[in-house]
Amino acid sequence: MAPHVAATGSAVARSTPNSTARPIRDVPLNEAASTPTGIGELDRVLGSGLVAGAVVLLAGEPGVGKSTLLLDVAARWAAGGRRTLYVSAEESAAQVRLRATRTDALHDQLYLAAETDLGAVLAHIDQLDPQLLVLDSVQAVSVSGADGVAGGVAQVREVTNALVRVAKQRRLPVLLVGHVTKDGTVAGPRLLEHLVDVVLSFEGDRHSGLRLVRATKNRFGPADEVGCFEMTEGGIREVADPSHLFTSARAEPMPGTALTVSQEGRRPLLGEVQALVAPSAAQTPRRVTHGLESGRVSVILAVLERKAKVRLFNKEVYVSTVGGARLVDPAADLAVALAVASAAAEHAFHRPLIALGEIGLSGEVRRVGGVERRVAEAARLGFGLALVPPGSNVTIRGMRAVEVGTVAAAVDLLQLRPPKRRDPDAPRLRLAEG
Ligand code: TYD
Ligand code: MG
Repeated sequence: MAPHVAATGSAVARSTPNSTARPIRDVPLNEAASTPTGIGELDRVLGSGLVAGAVVLLAGEPGVGKSTLLLDVAARWAAGGRRTLYVSAEESAAQVRLRATRTDALHDQLYLAAETDLGAVLAHIDQLDPQLLVLDSVQAVSVSGADGVAGGVAQVREVTNALVRVAKQRRLPVLLVGHVTKDGTVAGPRLLEHLVDVVLSFEGDRHSGLRLVRATKNRFGPADEVGCFEMTEGGIREVADPSHLFTSARAEPMPGTALTVSQEGRRPLLGEVQALVAPSAAQTPRRVTHGLESGRVSVILAVLERKAKVRLFNKEVYVSTVGGARLVDPAADLAVALAVASAAAEHAFHRPLIALGEIGLSGEVRRVGGVERRVAEAARLGFGLALVPPGSNVTIRGMRAVEVGTVAAAVDLLQLRPPKRRDPDAPRLRLAEG
């Protein structure tokens, strides 16, 4: 018989279904009920906690803090009186014990095993019948019988598939660590994304304690939430109110700084841009950016030069964010422009304010999403003044939201020009009262 007959279905043997198909309304909702991990910032990203039988992949670069975070999750789960199995395939049990001592993660219900063979991991699960499994990491475990080396594509896929099966059978939540490298070459999380229920990406800056966990895939909740953490001596701490991490704590505005509210997922975060403008004798003056896209900054500098008459062609310009934050939100454009203009004029705004708006090539300030939410966050943090794109129509108690149509208008409003270049007829903000 020709093989294509199978495609019609007639040649496929029927098997017994796992369950009968039910009308959708009759499917009980609690099958996807979740249990909070007790770490609010993580629960926010997960949706509301860990779902029975769900496999969650925590992906991040080496050293970002994956083991530290998951040991903390395991310890809290255990502290709730649930048997928890932490399998380390990378570190010895003694190393993990040492970390647990330092981070206060010692609990009676937390069981530790150091194994690198999948069969041994499955045996531990059978023996202990845990209510949570943490496996650190999926790349360090191998399967005898499968092709390739540990950490290779075939092996990683095999290990993950086996754990997904066990998770579903036992209704066991599983947390997997997956390594990513900067260039993404190691067989890793990318390859596993479709196999697991939730993919969390763990990001951070090597030189600051700030860590962000974001869901890039989530079968049980929103996929655009962000959780904030801080790496400290005593382990990882959640940061429920992270705005202070991204700004330098200073009451008085300084020349060359401007504040904005960016959106990470649906979460508004206060961010600070700092700029330094210095004379240059070089043919092509230096332009250095940190935490911002250099292409965007170049566009903003060109717009300032051409549309707002801020002379930068013979100046070195350095632009940076604070606290290792990355500001890629276009709404930060206006703050970048104002920080640079303020640095060039060596003139600070008179009053703390936040600036929101994307800048177009003709110098116009364009609408951005979530203006209301961003301005509300600024108001909550005590700001009383915001520059916003035209047509934003924000009314928030205690907040004056001034709509600015162009970069030039914003520069004029704040009087960020050398005196001889100021347009005497340009409208100005009365800021003296601050
Ligand atoms: P780790 O969790 O081992 O990272 P990963 O598993 O992602 O490779 O931790 C990474 C770094 O965090 C490590 O270099 C030391 C630092 N660290 C702290 O700052 N505080 C702590 O309490 C711990 C355990 C680690
Ligand atoms: Mg680790």
